[in-house]
Amino acid sequence: MRVIAIDGPAGSGKSTLAQAVADRLGLECLDTGAMYRAVAFAVLRAGGDPSDDDFAAAVARTIDVTVDAGQVVVDGVDATVEIRGSSVDRAVSLVAANPEVRAELVVRQREWVRRRGGGVVEGRDIGTVVFPDAEVKVHLVADPAVRAQRRVDQGGTPVTGDGAGRTYDEAVESVATDIARRDRIDSTRQASPLLKAPGAVVIDTTGLTFDETVEQVMRLL
Ligand code: DC
Repeated sequence: MRVIAIDGPAGSGKSTLAQAVADRLGLECLDTGAMYRAVAFAVLRAGGDPSDDDFAAAVARTIDVTVDAGQVVVDGVDATVEIRGSSVDRAVSLVAANPEVRAELVVRQREWVRRRGGGVVEGRDIGTVVFPDAEVKVHLVADPAVRAQRRVDQGGTPVTGDGAGRTYDEAVESVATDIARRDRIDSTRQASPLLKAPGAVVIDTTGLTFDETVEQVMRLL
């Protein structure tokens, strides 16, 4: 079974890279962050507190989540857009730090890949925990300011002109603060923190174009 693991912090370019590599190899691509976001979405939708570990774990065990071709459906509701919203952004690191939620989602991620006979899988713990024997493990890094700019350029954050009353620079600054907060939680939590996996190749995408990054991964393969 062919598995490519791509890990890295928010805004390091994992999702676009994973999709491009999957297209080149004729594999499907799994965004595991979307699964953690789906659990956070379901907790909030049920009126729960994301820091209530027992509640979040029960939600993770019982929800029906499908992640396919960029679409995320949670208990029959299309949550593709809402899982990228600010309430889920605020809640997701808490949910992802919950060991019981992680244990449940890791099982589902392995199953997703097994059913498809392989895949390009992106997240934070893919090379360390989910698929430590992946054929190629990539650890993406990028300068935090560049990561924040990319997020704003992707259009997820409102800037002046669409009602938010914020300039581009203010939007970048606010995204940078949120990214720094999530990086801190994701890399210092006890359960599967974001760490470079043994055997992973570090690629710093700060000064690389998208095509150059894809080429580097294809060379590794
Ligand atoms: O990649 P993302 O920003 O959509 O991830 C959302 C959150 O889920 C983020 O706080 C990190 C966490 N996550 C994780 O802990 N493990 C993964 N394999 C994927 C994401």
